[in-house]
Amino acid sequence: PPPPPPPLFFFQAQAAIPDAQESRGLGDVYKRQPLKCVESLAPITRLCWEMGWNEINGGNISWRLSNEHIDNVLKQIVKIDEDFIKLSKPQPTLDGEYFLVTGSGKYFRHAIEKTDEVFGIVQIKDGGNSYQKIWGFKGGGKPTSEFATHLTGHSIRKRQSKGREEVILHCHPPEFIILSFLMPLDSSLVSLALWKTMPECIVFFPDGIRVVPPILPGTNKIADASAIELEKSRIISWSHHGIFVSEESPDAVFSLVETIEKASAMQRKIIAAGGAKQTISLQLLRELTDATKNIRVCDPDI
Ligand code: 13P
Ligand code: ZN
Repeated sequence: PPPPPPPLFFFQAQAAIPDAQESRGLGDVYKRQPLKCVESLAPITRLCWEMGWNEINGGNISWRLSNEHIDNVLKQIVKIDEDFIKLSKPQPTLDGEYFLVTGSGKYFRHAIEKTDEVFGIVQIKDGGNSYQKIWGFKGGGKPTSEFATHLTGHSIRKRQSKGREEVILHCHPPEFIILSFLMPLDSSLVSLALWKTMPECIVFFPDGIRVVPPILPGTNKIADASAIELEKSRIISWSHHGIFVSEESPDAVFSLVETIEKASAMQRKIIAAGGAKQTISLQLLRELTDATKNIRVCDPDI
């Protein structure tokens, strides 16, 4: 069996240093403390690689840290010497928010061993026009090239979910991507095909899959196209590229992608076998919808 992962600890200025300026000098007292949010995100990030969703540096994850996830260790970090870096798309509704996010070009596979290289924490500043690095990105990293879409997604999904959704995962799950080669690039058709494949689907993603056409990754153009679809669903397909999903926690976002990927694999096999002879009927989907009112995020469009 592989050796157990090393414990996740991070150097951090000790509490009660009276002056932020002084605390940066030779007399610094440092101790090792875990950052709770990083401790919970790193293993899920590594698991995404184990699932085959994040080859090389593929994919990125970001977490809008609500108050309950900003622990005392994070509160103690006072960044006075980091520049403000301009955002390519201003995000006034996210001003002041903290984001834990993977660095551009970093590997999900390294999430446990090289945690402070793979991840960083930034705070949105300057009325939503800039960000400042707070922690991590060791060796000079910066947030993912898809940061514009992540922030756009957080702004929209924070509003639409009334603050419930906090984590966005973009990854490259193969079975889901294959469907964008085999099926029309049509949100209703893809959603219905997956809903009809296994009962969990309409219960856990009644908002469906919204399809974004093929667009150059890492651009404001893909952020703008994604924004239109994220108004309608937590889940979007970047055709021939990957999935982009928003949920309330690292665990929930992982589980949603896991469910979609399993249904996609079944659907792909059905297509490869020449098409379904029968499927879950619309009648049964409506009964499922009625029976699961209390746990669904919305009513499906069927
Ligand atoms: P980053 O390494 O910049 O996060 O890009 C990976 C990716 O999947 C782009 O869509
Ligand atoms: Zn990608």
